[in-house]
Amino acid sequence: MSGMTWLITGGAGYIGAHVARIMTGAGERVAVLDDLSSGDAARLPDGVPLVRGSVLDRELLDRVLSGHGVTGVVHLAAKKQVGESVEQPLRYYRENVHGLTVLLEAVADAGVERFLFSSSAAVYGMADADLITEDAATVPINPYGETKLAGEWLVRAAGRAHGFATTCLRYFNVAGAAGPELADTGVFNVIPMFFDRLTRGDAPRIFGDDYPTPDGTCIRDYIHVADLADAHLTAARRLARRDGAGDLTVNVGRGEGVSVRTLARIVAEVTGHGTPAVIEPRRPGDAARAVASVGRIGGELGWTASRGVREMVESAWEGWLLHHPECVPGVPG
Ligand SMILES: NC(=O)c1ccc[n+]([C@@H]2O[C@H](COP(=O)([O-])OP(=O)(O)OC[C@H]3O[C@@H](n4cnc5c(N)ncnc54)[C@H](O)[C@@H]3O)[C@@H](O)[C@H]2O)c1
Repeated sequence: MSGMTWLITGGAGYIGAHVARIMTGAGERVAVLDDLSSGDAARLPDGVPLVRGSVLDRELLDRVLSGHGVTGVVHLAAKKQVGESVEQPLRYYRENVHGLTVLLEAVADAGVERFLFSSSAAVYGMADADLITEDAATVPINPYGETKLAGEWLVRAAGRAHGFATTCLRYFNVAGAAGPELADTGVFNVIPMFFDRLTRGDAPRIFGDDYPTPDGTCIRDYIHVADLADAHLTAARRLARRDGAGDLTVNVGRGEGVSVRTLARIVAEVTGHGTPAVIEPRRPGDAARAVASVGRIGGELGWTASRGVREMVESAWEGWLLHHPECVPGVPG
């Protein structure tokens, strides 16, 4: 136990609920603030107080920070769909950037001294490197990525100016679930998109097989959400030990690339749905390769991921079956 009281914003979401679970399981005191716009209160562990409301609501934030005696914030609340961010940039800036500004003002005024921020590999845009280090250029290519980069700037600047310690975690491709009930119910990432197609009897789609990669398909770094939650616990405990200001920005990934074609094969093996993938044209904005350098998180936090891609697919599939009981392994639904 760190002796802290953590406010987890977005704690009823896919990643936030995993973070709430691992932190409470490790004996940390936790409260959650979530407007339930995409979250689900049923995901929260028993006994974790949920305040329903938005990070845009300054009065509510003041009440929550003082009422719960909050000493650290883990900020996950955000809108996260890239395509939607292109169509609704103002909403994304309001929620992800203005919301964060309001939260940081409340944090600074309340004297909270620790702040952990959910960032994303989207800050790197089309980075062209075998392994992307944290010093790579940050050139996001969509409003979602821009809001995450602006968020990092805000967090670091506010921490320096107001004397609180900050950590930004840049997640790579998050997948899997620590239990079926905690699975991601959205169909925005490649694994649920494969499940969705296969269980309808449609061929999974691979966008582009003419990339400069060994099998021609894009390569990504997948990280199990349970490992990601563990990285939050480790980062929060490091923050708790710090004296005064200071910031840390680290990638969270496995440091290993998996091609979309390999992923499709693992999905077929795990689900029993063998419909071969079809190749569609490339999508704009897909980098050929996006794999994290994990040297810094290893060095600074002594943390490495432990779960592999098959485990991610298996646990995501269990979650999919729970939420889509009409689907039977190997039988189109
Ligand atoms: N899922 C990924 O692959 C991924 C990758 C990189 C970064 N991230 C970041 O991780 C964080 C969590 O993502 P997730 O996948 O769990 O998404 P999610 O949509 O499941 O969770 C977001 C949570 O925040 C809540 N929320 C949204 N706006 C809010 C507001 N204004 N006030 C209070 N609560 C609000 C939602 O109700 C939801 O519970 C986000 O910041 C996202 O940008 C996610």
